[in-house]
Amino acid sequence: ELPEEGTISCTSPSNIALVKYWGKRPVQLPENASISFTLDHCKTTTTLRYKKLDSASEYFDFDLFFEGKPKPDFKPKIQNFFDRIQKYLLFLKEYKFTIETSNTFPHSSGIASSASGMSALAYCLMQLEKKINPDISEAELLQKASFLSRLGSGSACRSIEGPVTVWGKHNDIEGSSDAFAVPFPYTVHQNFDTYQDTILLIDKGEKQVSSTVGHDLMHGHPFATKRFEQASGNISKLKEILISGDIDTFIEVVESEAFTLHAMMMTSLPYFILMKPNTLSVIQKIWEYRKTTGSKVCFTLDAGANVHVLYPNSEKNEVLDFITSELVAYCQNGQYICDKIGWGAKIV
Ligand code: PMV
Repeated sequence: ELPEEGTISCTSPSNIALVKYWGKRPVQLPENASISFTLDHCKTTTTLRYKKLDSASEYFDFDLFFEGKPKPDFKPKIQNFFDRIQKYLLFLKEYKFTIETSNTFPHSSGIASSASGMSALAYCLMQLEKKINPDISEAELLQKASFLSRLGSGSACRSIEGPVTVWGKHNDIEGSSDAFAVPFPYTVHQNFDTYQDTILLIDKGEKQVSSTVGHDLMHGHPFATKRFEQASGNISKLKEILISGDIDTFIEVVESEAFTLHAMMMTSLPYFILMKPNTLSVIQKIWEYRKTTGSKVCFTLDAGANVHVLYPNSEKNEVLDFITSELVAYCQNGQYICDKIGWGAKIV
């Protein structure tokens, strides 16, 4: 029995990869396993209004509002997403949907909203699925929400749960799959509890390379095979690190992964540099600070110029002082966002 009409609101966060996903095969399957911290503050809130149609529509019937305004330029992406997921959610053409979405972080801040946006929508759709099929278990719901998110944007599948998730089949991670992300299935050492991520907004400019183009550049990339092997080795290392609490080795793996992601872009054809001079200045400052103070602060990068500054909660006051006195000067308009490890998608 399909419900006539109603409203569902959910939030879902962004995530930051520690071992990066860069390179995919059809349909949205990763060339290597990746692992990330789910974030807490940077998130999308999505309200899904559904109204049953008298007869099933030929096409996907929806209106889209972003921060209160109609957003026609986001529509093709959602249309495409519905096309991909319709065989897994048979009710899609039975409804007229209104999707209202907003982010806690500034639009075009260089923070990808696709992970939080796609996972929030997928999670809302799964809440409707649950109304139609109340027997679905919580575990099935979460897994299918991650599966659907992946079809919207690969890395989005890692946002449904927290605090650490793994996406991609890997022999050392029990229950891992290419089709959806799973929560890291071992106990994470308390050293990583409430780990902090301060995101320095170095450059808010439009991305020079979309992730779709970026992933494609790994086909025929001269270092592709070695990169996928390296990523796999880093997953094994990081598994042990997260269990043992070895922050020094954590720093080594995470910073190396950040550079490797950018090295792949710099050595593809066409080639790209997504870091800015200020990205490198910040990295140098972080290294100096670590050397002089013994701090365990480190950085990672996404496919852009912004720097994610990662550090244990126990160092929060000192590192925030360091960030405000030394690093904020390198941020565009002095902008940065304080975030930390979080728990994934929620009903509002
Ligand atoms: O989810 P996509 O297709 O936008 O790819 C994002 C890939 C990176 O953010 C650069 C790395 C990652 O694993 O999140």
